[in-house]
Amino acid sequence: MKAEESTVTLEKIVSLCKRRGFVYQSAEIYGGLNGLYDFGHLGVLLKHNLRQAWTDSTNKAPGDIVFLEGALIAPYAVWKASGHVDHFSDPMVDCLSCKRRYRADDIDLEQGCPFCGKKEWTPVRQFNMMFKTEVGAAADQSSIAFLRPETAQSIFINFKNVLSTMRVKIPFGIAQIGKAFRNEITPKQFLFRMREFEQMELEWFCKEENTKKFFDYWCKNRFDFYLNIGIKKENLRLRSHEKDELSHYSSCTNDVEYHFPFGWKELEGITYRGNYDLSQHTKHSGKDLGVFDEETKKTFIPHVIECSVGTDRAFLTVLFDAYHEDVIEGESRIVLSLSPRIAPIKAAFLPLTKKQVEPMQKIYEEIKQLGYMIDFDVSGSIGKRYRRQDEIGTPVCFTYDFDSEQDQAVTARDRDTTKQERIAINQIPTYIKNLINSRR
Ligand code: GAP
Repeated sequence: MKAEESTVTLEKIVSLCKRRGFVYQSAEIYGGLNGLYDFGHLGVLLKHNLRQAWTDSTNKAPGDIVFLEGALIAPYAVWKASGHVDHFSDPMVDCLSCKRRYRADDIDLEQGCPFCGKKEWTPVRQFNMMFKTEVGAAADQSSIAFLRPETAQSIFINFKNVLSTMRVKIPFGIAQIGKAFRNEITPKQFLFRMREFEQMELEWFCKEENTKKFFDYWCKNRFDFYLNIGIKKENLRLRSHEKDELSHYSSCTNDVEYHFPFGWKELEGITYRGNYDLSQHTKHSGKDLGVFDEETKKTFIPHVIECSVGTDRAFLTVLFDAYHEDVIEGESRIVLSLSPRIAPIKAAFLPLTKKQVEPMQKIYEEIKQLGYMIDFDVSGSIGKRYRRQDEIGTPVCFTYDFDSEQDQAVTARDRDTTKQERIAINQIPTYIKNLINSRR
């Protein structure tokens, strides 16, 4: 076997996602809309595994974590209070010649339009990225609402509800996985910058004097999360935001960055939001969101450390990190070396010839009952079937062959090394379980 250096590109990932049914352009048969995608069978399974890994990782928190699922639409008042009506905008510029629209900070205006080369620009103006809608039949100010541009605000506006119903004490966290919407001026790089995407967010509420300690804790916790789902350490780094990069609510942010083919980019943000959000909602709603401190006998507004990652961006990241090409016995193949924990399909069951379909199917059906997401594949040569599974990241293929009936064993073929070993049929469940729990 000769391993060959291969370069992963965005085009290769987009093509693999389409070819194997991970991700489709949304409304493709009508020409599609930029920045919107639909997820196919394997994409749904991979996303599900990422959410599960993220949810599991919250168990390590130094205090309680409770979950929330907020509505996707919230009234104008919420976004006015949060600052999104006034501050959630990007600078936008249009080319007067070819009519193309750009984020002004994405291009060099002096160089001219990246499409037609002309230097005829509209003035740069601020473009608010929230999707606006009207709720109900009345068409006045009270009906204006927005699709949430971050899931976090659902957490802040429910802070009192959670506190009074869940018997939690500061410090504690509220975690949420859900959709967010941004009318990005230029959605790009596939799942990296979308208009509809999913966030996994955790708001950690604590006393002001403990924020430094918890900020450091969460930076380490979140960095380790990515190592745990199999991302290579050399492709990850933590970077502090410069003052001029900070969001309107933040005084300190560290990004976990990933080395994408298009450069080091944000994967997750860990942000000190102070008590900005709870104070704003207290002020605007007139409801006291303070917490009574038993020690000082005073009410205070907790401070917040936020950890926020896009599920879709994490999805794209694990694909980039896992993708490689090599040559096995003169034949080239594409492999997704996903951690078995997040691989969409945990094992494939392949009868060697038609004669072995029936006994192998019986084994497959039994293992399926154990709850593992597995595949049964009879079409094409065995080599072709191996390569199909390699390309979708299935960690192991079991082959039932001419000896299997005699020795009650199958061949287990490892996706990454292609090494094969003989294992007893009754050991298959343990084999799969160990594989999923192994840290690779
Ligand atoms: N609540 C904080 C917040 O929303 P953000 O840095 O704007 O902060 C957090 O977003 C994370 O959400 C990012 O690190 C990224 O992973 C993901 N994200 C943001 N905008 C995105 C987009 N347009 N498409 C896909 N993921 C996005």
